[in-house]
Amino acid sequence: MIKKAVLPVAGLGTRFLPASKATPKEMLPIIDKPLVQYAVEEAVDIGIDEIVFIISEDKYSIERHFQKNTNIEKRLIENGKTEFIEKLNPKIFSNVKFHYVNQDEQNGLGHAVLLAEPIIAGDPFALLLPDELFFARESCLNQISEIFNKTNSSTIAVTKVDEKNIHKYGVIKPGKVENNAILLEDIVEKPLKEDAPSDIAVSGRYILTPTIFNHLKKIGPGKSGEIQITDAIKTLINEENVYAKIYEGEKFDCGSKLGFVHATIALALKDPSISENIKKIIKEIV
Ligand code: UTP
Repeated sequence: MIKKAVLPVAGLGTRFLPASKATPKEMLPIIDKPLVQYAVEEAVDIGIDEIVFIISEDKYSIERHFQKNTNIEKRLIENGKTEFIEKLNPKIFSNVKFHYVNQDEQNGLGHAVLLAEPIIAGDPFALLLPDELFFARESCLNQISEIFNKTNSSTIAVTKVDEKNIHKYGVIKPGKVENNAILLEDIVEKPLKEDAPSDIAVSGRYILTPTIFNHLKKIGPGKSGEIQITDAIKTLINEENVYAKIYEGEKFDCGSKLGFVHATIALALKDPSISENIKKIIKEIV
């Protein structure tokens, strides 16, 4: 069973400036919950009890967010607003150990993941990119952990994407289907449309064996001069089986304006406390 997760949150969030200037992109809320909390809840839900944030210096609000706030809790009790305590200090976080590792220079996702190696200490682990939000009956992480539990092999979540957007993603070359998943033959970071090995792209949820760290250390900078996790998975395939699971559910790329607004509307329509009014507002606007 997977007990540890890595959440890289040290990126610059360029696509979300100016919102991401003083507030980490991962702290932006979809309705009333920061993106990063959705990812932490998804991890805790499958039994993860140790979370490693890869963070940059100016993102201290993320650390604050997962600390117990006893001052506000006291005030809520004094004001008789005890129903908000669970939202302030969720019980599910009290059994989780949070680690914070600084990434001084933004050398890419692969570089960020490598910094977690001492805490991961030889265990398989989950990797969640909090700016990608998944919404399904069975969480994305749960869907891929089922494959990992069967195979003991690295497993990544994938989705089909429109070919005009394929150049934005890591793209897999699918091999045979076994264990209810696709065996990877190859993976390419951000290929040109004409070079893409398929229309199946990597999403922001992975379960990785610790062997990935050896590969992260060997590969050099790839696309955009950054250390890419995709390049390390590419060489990992030569050593171990790696599976991909086509994720069943909705996915929103909340690192882009379009995905962020889409997620907000979709989740608002699922929230029983506001959905009817939101429907009316949308009808009026349209
Ligand atoms: P993204 O590329 O989506 O995030 O990285 P970004 O770099 O912050 O966004 P833009 O492109 O500048 O708008 C995916 C995830 O990896 C983290 C990001 O914080 C995000 O959660 N990341 C990326 C790091 O932690 N370190 C890095 O060097 C790069």
